[in-house]
Amino acid sequence: MRSINNKVVVIGAGMVGAAVVDAMLSLCLVSEIAVIDRNVQRAEGVALDASHTTSFAYSPNVHVHAGTFADCADAQIVVIAAGTSVQPGKVVHDRLSLAASNAAVIRDTMAEICPYTTDAVLIVVSNPVDIVTYVAQNEFNYPRDHIIGTGTLLDTARLRRLIAEEYAVDTKNVHGYILGEHGDTAFAVWSMVSIAGVSLPDAARIFRRPVHLDREALVREVRQAGYHIVQLKGYTNAGVANSVGRIAKAVMLHERSVLPVSTTLTGEYGIHDVALSLPCVITDQGIGQVLEIPLSPEEQEQMHQCAERLHTVLQQLDI
Ligand code: 2OP
Repeated sequence: MRSINNKVVVIGAGMVGAAVVDAMLSLCLVSEIAVIDRNVQRAEGVALDASHTTSFAYSPNVHVHAGTFADCADAQIVVIAAGTSVQPGKVVHDRLSLAASNAAVIRDTMAEICPYTTDAVLIVVSNPVDIVTYVAQNEFNYPRDHIIGTGTLLDTARLRRLIAEEYAVDTKNVHGYILGEHGDTAFAVWSMVSIAGVSLPDAARIFRRPVHLDREALVREVRQAGYHIVQLKGYTNAGVANSVGRIAKAVMLHERSVLPVSTTLTGEYGIHDVALSLPCVITDQGIGQVLEIPLSPEEQEQMHQCAERLHTVLQQLDI
């Protein structure tokens, strides 16, 4: 029988890290959570606060505590939520403006993790997630498939929600993907969107809703959602934390679920040496398979635009 170690390490105890701890607890699959932050007091506060929720939980004996990088040694999952986030202001700078500072943060973080483990599945959250994932996957001797960037799982969740509202159905009945960059060039694979198996051209008739999806407006809304939330509440955390929870559950239960997540491409659609989101089979080892799904010529063109934009950033940073 497979032995499961349900220990999770969360690196970064900011708004995202704290929400990730909550999302992990709500999975009811975790036996221990260690929270690491340069600000040890903050890590202790997040852990203590979260530990008080365990008396309301289905699995009340979870040990939540502030930790050190040594905690990675026996962790099954390490979540990397360290670094700067998109900040509110008159001009909200896009995620790519964080590339230089968070590339430095991921280098420091990986250098701390690697002496303790190369077995844990690393879930990268820090933005720009595709750049940060690329650095983690390519500059360290850590098995690439054990590293997963949250990528467009969140953008996909946002699109599914918007479409579900239009047809008044459960979000889980809406299938489809946002792929490419978790950012301003993310694109929808409209050719694959379905609602409970019904393709979009038939959906209005079958669900008896007078819906005319404005596809461009929906993609615009998805691309802007993160910035919009930052303007409204100062940060985003719930959506991305639950994206982490979804990936963690797939890893812990060896689900082989297909999720759109970020990883370095190795020739898919002719693209190399850049991390982007494609649908991936998630196993207890991380990324089990990258799926090169059929894309229309226009969608392939959009994928290449994402790759070019990220290649440019990697070159500018000399990565
Ligand atoms: C989000 O989209 C800012 O990447 C973060 O919620």
